[in-house]
Parts: sequence; C-alpha cells; structure tokens
Amino acid sequence: MRNSQGSAPGPKQVLARVISNTPVMPGVCLIWLEAPEIASLAQPGQFVMANCGEDNLLRRPFSIYQVNDGKASLALLFSVVGKGTQWLSQRKAEDSIDLLGPLGNGFSINPASRRLLLVAGGIGIAPLCFLAQTALEQERPVTLLLGAATGAQLCPIHLIPPSVKCITATDDGSAGKKGFITSFIPEYIDQADHIFACGPSPMYRTMVKMPELKDKPVQISLEVRMGCGFGACYGCTVKTKTGLKQVCHDGPVFNLDDILWDELADI
Ligand SMILES: Cc1cc2nc3c(=O)[nH]c(=O)nc-3n(C[C@H](O)[C@H](O)[C@H](O)COP(=O)(O)OP(=O)(O)OC[C@H]3O[C@@H](n4cnc5c(N)ncnc54)[C@H](O)[C@@H]3O)c2cc1C
Ligand code: FES
Repeated sequence: MRNSQGSAPGPKQVLARVISNTPVMPGVCLIWLEAPEIASLAQPGQFVMANCGEDNLLRRPFSIYQVNDGKASLALLFSVVGKGTQWLSQRKAEDSIDLLGPLGNGFSINPASRRLLLVAGGIGIAPLCFLAQTALEQERPVTLLLGAATGAQLCPIHLIPPSVKCITATDDGSAGKKGFITSFIPEYIDQADHIFACGPSPMYRTMVKMPELKDKPVQISLEVRMGCGFGACYGCTVKTKTGLKQVCHDGPVFNLDDILWDELADI
C-alpha cells in the first residue's frame, strides 16, 4: 500500500524543538514538535521514530496525530506505558527531541470513496485524527466510532476535528454507549464506502470475522514492536497472504484481510 504521494521522498532525521507537552487525560500526553522537514512530507498513517532517552538507544514509534496548517510542526498523542514514553512525557517546551520520519506507508483513500468510517480503539485514535482532517479537507464526510475501556481512557472530544460525526462507546458503559466499539460497526457500515481502523490486535481479530465488513475495503494500522523503524533489522516482520512483510516499511497500514491473524502474536 502506498501513501497518496506515491514514491515519497526519504525520511529526515531532525532535532525537533518541543513547542508544548500537555497531559490530555490520565496517562496520555499531546506533544507538539517543530519539525518542518518531517511535517511537510507527512501523510496520514505514517509515523516517526522518536529518540526517547539520553543514550540514543530508545527509539520508539509514534503515529503522526496532526500536522499544523503551515506544515511546520506535528503532534504526537501518546500513552505513557514504559521507560521511553515516561521520558517523553517529561520533556518541556524548548527541549529538543531527535526524530526520524516520516516513516512507513500510510492510509490511502480510494478516490471513488466518499463517506469514510473510522474505528478507533483507545490510543488508536492517534493516526485517525490526521486522516479525518485530510478527508474533511477533501470534502469527504467522516464518521468516527471512538472506543475505550473506560470513560477516563476515552480521547477528549475537543481533540477530534469538529466536523467529524463522533460516536463514543466504552467497554464498561461509563461514557457513551456501552460495549466494544466493534459492536457498533454494523449500525454505521451501510453509510460507509471505506473503513479505516486503528486499535489493539484483538479489535482487528473481531473485525476480520465480521460478515458486514467482507465486501468493504478496510485498512488498518498495525502495531508491533519495532527496532529500527526503517527496514534494517527485520524485527517487525509479519506474515501476510502475499508473504513476509516489514510493518515499518511495507506498513504500518495494511488491508485487514491481508494479515495472517492466526500467525500474529499480540503485544
Ligand atoms: C507504527 C506504530 C505507531 C504507534 N503509534 C503510537 C501512538 O501514536 N501513540 C502511542 O501511545 N503509542 C503508539 N505506538 C506504541 C508505542 O510505540 C509504544 O507504546 C512505545 O514504544 C512504548 O515505549 P516505552 O519505552 O514507553 O515502553 P516499553 O518499556 O518498551 O514497553 C512497555 C509496554 O509498551 C508496549 N510496547 C512497547 N513497544 C511497543 C511498540 N513498538 N509498539 C506497540 N507497543 C509497544 C508493550 O506492551 C510493552 O509491554 C505505536 C507503535 C507503532 C509500531
Ligand atoms: S523495525 Fe527494523 S525492520 Fe522494521
């Protein structure tokens, strides 16, 4: 799958200046970084490798959540889950972060597709906001099914582009509708020409079995552990119907039914 730029120019390594770094919900931060070399090339679904430590050893992958109007800065929305993201959450305005990107192949909207259905599980909302922003600029209506385990883990609505029709749900019913976000797909599928999803592997395993999605194009962003992020270490290899693929180089966006889900380990 190629992003809409076709064969895109190569990734850049830059020292990005932190513009702001704000907690937006418990354990989740939104960081804005000045990085025009990367922001000007970025396509929805692509990611950056951010060096998350002083020793140059902790490069971590993050989807590009948003690019500002002038394409001079980009934002990452990230959960604090371990050493690298803890370090990132502590960066302050004017600090510098070593970034490599944009990397990978992003989402590609079928030119004939008009109405998009986006399905986000938890922090999976990160690459879908950039996609929604781009689709709306192209006058394509966007419906977003936004799910999380609990209300406290649900992405705040002010972080979603305002023209998106947003339906929220939580597993425990503490905010929005009650249930897994995938259970609401049948209700909205008839209005959608193209489906895009980002979330944990169990969400995709449910989607791949849904009869409602069999005849629709579905693209997903796959998360696996990554070493280099640019095709050198083979640490991110997955099995697909067309052979072995590197998630960092061939993905992270794949067609849902291309992945051999029984062969994929959950992280
Ligand atoms: C293409 C891609 C895009 C991503 N985009 C985002 C994003 O926009 N926002 C966000 O919060 N997270 C994103 N992730 C996940 C993010 O990279 C990890 O949460 C991060 O690397 C954890 O680093 P750590 O040092 O804090 O945690 P570690 O101490 O390394 O690990 C803590 C836990 O985090 C998880 N984890 C670690 N590495 C990865 C990894 N490479 N991918 C997935 N989970 C991992 C594991 O469950 C692990 O047990 C993305 C991952 C990929 C592959
Ligand atoms: S992370 Fe090294 S090849 Fe993909």
